[in-house]
Amino acid sequence: MAIKVKVGLIGALDMLKFKNMAKVREMAIQAAPANEITADYAINNNARALHPDYQELIVDKVIEHGGAGAKTYLMRSKDGGPLAYFRAGQYLSLKLAIDGSSVTRPYSISSAPADALKGAVSVTVRSNPGGFAAEYMLKEFKEGDEVLSSGPQGNFYYEPLRDPQHIVALAGGSGITPFLSMAQAIADGTEDFDLTILFGSRTREQILFREELDELAAGCDKIHVVHVLSDEKADGFEHGFITADLIRKYASAPYSVFVCGPEAMYNFLKGELDKLGLPRKNIRCEMLGVTKKIAEAAGFPEDAKGRTFAIKVRQGADEYEISAKSEEPILVAVERAGITAPSRCRSGECGWCRSKVISGTYFAPPENENRRYADVTWNYIHPCATFPTSDMVIEVPAEYTPGRK
Ligand code: FES
Repeated sequence: MAIKVKVGLIGALDMLKFKNMAKVREMAIQAAPANEITADYAINNNARALHPDYQELIVDKVIEHGGAGAKTYLMRSKDGGPLAYFRAGQYLSLKLAIDGSSVTRPYSISSAPADALKGAVSVTVRSNPGGFAAEYMLKEFKEGDEVLSSGPQGNFYYEPLRDPQHIVALAGGSGITPFLSMAQAIADGTEDFDLTILFGSRTREQILFREELDELAAGCDKIHVVHVLSDEKADGFEHGFITADLIRKYASAPYSVFVCGPEAMYNFLKGELDKLGLPRKNIRCEMLGVTKKIAEAAGFPEDAKGRTFAIKVRQGADEYEISAKSEEPILVAVERAGITAPSRCRSGECGWCRSKVISGTYFAPPENENRRYADVTWNYIHPCATFPTSDMVIEVPAEYTPGRK
């Protein structure tokens, strides 16, 4: 049966317009000037300013936190201009050349976002005996030194679409830095939420940024700071560890919990946070890196423990043969061999180091597993959070470095 379709005058004109579209487009192309398209669009410039490939920084001042075994590095942009604006809680990945290796380390920004617009930013590094980069920085970094940093990275910030108005921050040691940035952002009006910080330290002497935090709390009724001392009893301080009961004492629902501290603190808090019964979306943990005791992780292959494997690393037209310990992330072995590879979070979260496995087996711990389903299927890994369990062949992307093609 024939179907009758009525086409009105407007419809007929539309069809004619559609029919002529290719011809009209061709005429427009022919009529256009032959000069190069400008790359100087305002929107591109804004995107570059907010998400730079790299920022060149100079260490302006070093502040020692004696009892806490830490130093804060106040840095400024090398060209004197503004630095990339960030969300309080984000981090920078610093690029360091140590003993012939090019490595990166992520450090939470401890300064206020508003300072970035004046070209200033700071990070705090705490002593980590046996740690490669922290010990190097604490020993070697001094005023006037230049360092390359990434743009602001990470998702550890207040998000009003997800978080209630009240954030309960659980901090340990240098894990206070993202919360110091948040407190400053609240105090200067950049952010608008209530922040209760439960800050665990061993003793009063070891409290990082005590004066700054207490001053911010005294000057702004949206900021509350509770110091929790594990090794000392003192009036006006909580004693012990941060527990579910302590959180309930200072927080009434609804609230989100943000956690930043050492691995032992995360391990302890897992059970305590479960007791709170909060929705998963209201618990945010800052990246932890990867566990140092990977051989004890469930599922780590018994026959790979304590072994060293040969890895063939392909990067563009180059190929390198390196050796890698089964209990160290592949990225560490790559860097130790002097190969410059991209990385940011070093926790398996950002995907910056994403590499292709051509052959071989590996272990990726579930707590750092953030690969897309397609990447798992097609054998892409995050070498920062992946451990070799056999000889391997991998393809690692090249890292863009200013001044290098
Ligand atoms: S550096 Fe972020 S996933 Fe590897």
